Amino acid sequence: MNKVSVTFSPSAKTVRVVQGTSILDAAREAGLHIQSVCGGDGVCGKCRVIIKKGKVESPPTGLLTPEEIDDGVVLACEAKVFEDISVEIPPESRADEGEILMGAQGPHKKFDLYSNVEELAPDIIHEARIMEHSPLSTKIFLKLPPPTLDDIISDLERIYRALHKKGIDHIQTGLANLKNIGGFLREHNWAVTVTLGKRNGTTELVQLEGGDTSKTNYGVAVDIGTTTIVTHLVDLVSEQTVCSMGAFNKQITYGDDIISRIIFASEKEGLEKLHMAVVDNVNSLIQGCITDCCSKSKHIKLEDITCVLCAGNPTMTHLLLNIDPGYLRKEPYVPTTNEMPVIRAAEAGIKINHRGLLACAPGVSSYIGADITAGLLVSDLTEKPEVAMYIDMGTNGEIVLGNKDWLTCCACSVGPAFEGSGIRCGTRAIKGAIQKVKIPDPTKPAIVETIGSAPTEGSPVGANGFCGSGLIEIISELLNAGIINKAGKIDKSHISHLTSNFQPIRSGDEGLEYIVVPKDQSATGRDIVITQADIDHLIRSKAAVYAGISTLLKRMGYTVKDVSRFYIAGGFGSHLDIAKAIDIGLLPNAPLDRFSYIGNGSVEGARMILLSYIAMAKARQVADKMTYIELSTDNSFNEEFISAMFLPHTDLSLFAK
Ligand code: FES
Repeated sequence: MNKVSVTFSPSAKTVRVVQGTSILDAAREAGLHIQSVCGGDGVCGKCRVIIKKGKVESPPTGLLTPEEIDDGVVLACEAKVFEDISVEIPPESRADEGEILMGAQGPHKKFDLYSNVEELAPDIIHEARIMEHSPLSTKIFLKLPPPTLDDIISDLERIYRALHKKGIDHIQTGLANLKNIGGFLREHNWAVTVTLGKRNGTTELVQLEGGDTSKTNYGVAVDIGTTTIVTHLVDLVSEQTVCSMGAFNKQITYGDDIISRIIFASEKEGLEKLHMAVVDNVNSLIQGCITDCCSKSKHIKLEDITCVLCAGNPTMTHLLLNIDPGYLRKEPYVPTTNEMPVIRAAEAGIKINHRGLLACAPGVSSYIGADITAGLLVSDLTEKPEVAMYIDMGTNGEIVLGNKDWLTCCACSVGPAFEGSGIRCGTRAIKGAIQKVKIPDPTKPAIVETIGSAPTEGSPVGANGFCGSGLIEIISELLNAGIINKAGKIDKSHISHLTSNFQPIRSGDEGLEYIVVPKDQSATGRDIVITQADIDHLIRSKAAVYAGISTLLKRMGYTVKDVSRFYIAGGFGSHLDIAKAIDIGLLPNAPLDRFSYIGNGSVEGARMILLSYIAMAKARQVADKMTYIELSTDNSFNEEFISAMFLPHTDLSLFAK
């Protein structure tokens, strides 16, 4: 089969592919990630690339304008390569660019071992207290007495006896250690460091090292999000994060949301591809953290990392461990397990110490996962008597209501709209994305603020699209300016009296659309618009979140007024304007000082669990305590959803100022 070269810019990567390969597949082979919201079906238009040299075969599509076609723009999933070509991937088409919520960098939040533990089993409290630290894996230096004719217990029992004296029981180990223990203890003159890991109710003797290495022990906390993956390399002795790194989830090229990934996993080799993508992500981030530390003269080796603690939604944790996630979306929606057993990290392909352990925070159901239990630990919601609500908004909306005594939760499909997908000019939170919009005077152009620039009106701003917070802003501003009505419909009559050159409303392929940044001022060379279809789409997404909130409140007999605090987690970043999210009826109408922004609760919670056996026990307790409400079969959810398909809501009394 003849092969041809495809060179991508700006990365300057070249790949050789068989003639007839699509540019999207060529990019995957080159390790580059192009947005492909529709999974390569040619309908989303997010995979635009520009042919700089050579020709491709590309079927006609209504998604590109004649000007774009003249400029060499093609859809990467549709364009097939038959000769050597050069291709530019513009910023808005790159799936691996954008803002990633890394979590805090400082000392981790600790559980006080002597408070808030009354409900935990006595043996858990006992085991946590007897260790100076209680991370997932601990190193202890032992100076063993050599055997004599008066003391002939076996080598392994000698180690266990020393650990028993420190209050550690129920220890197990594997054949790989047993084979070497005899020679190793004698070679190191009976002075060794043991690594102990918490493994499924027992303590595992993971490895032995000669001499005292107890001060060199690292672990990794990982948040595996549908869109981003974040790792914190943590010194398990000092309890400090020494480096954190994030990247876009490489699975994005196989689908934007969990449903499309579950479908892809059912295809030939799909599961393996998704598994390898996330493993590759995590390994690259861990290696990146090590390289970064080494560059700062802090030399850490992979073998020094003895454990990994992951938090993610159920689909992500299934894919990490190469488990078919198919049953998660088949009635009655049952996961393979809500708590993955602790395994050797190498079994999942994660490269740390060759005998290091991998654990996942416990989840609750098919759609409430370890990321939520981890985030709840960070929020304090489960520690206080007052009723509070935790809202995690991503492609899925997960909502928890409760206090220290009870917890109830639900999940609703929000869709990827607030991450910029499925929106004509939507984009991730990359440089140039519109994050703030103001329309102080509907007879004048909007004032926009992009990531990386100041508010600007009427001059080039380098804007390339709307990120999630920008989409909330534009809906709120259009509503307040009277350009859309409460049903979200663009009202052309409102500004039809304008006689100047400023005519921001026009008819497009999907009905009326409002021009926010004209093409001569945008970075894409196209008008940045919000279309009627976009607005309808966003209203459905915000209605799903609000309906989940109100269904949960009603089911438990509460109102918004009864909720002492709303913890907001998820991918909006710190740019989310809570007041505007209330304006459009995405969040409930509560005083602004009752909202707390958690950020990446998943990685923060994973770090707490990595460092604290008590936190792991608490996470299990939280997961056990949570009652899951399935909304897809709940009629009241459908009623709430329809009521929320209005700006802000059909019942305006709920949003009275
Ligand atoms: Fe190419 Fe959707 S149009 S991936």
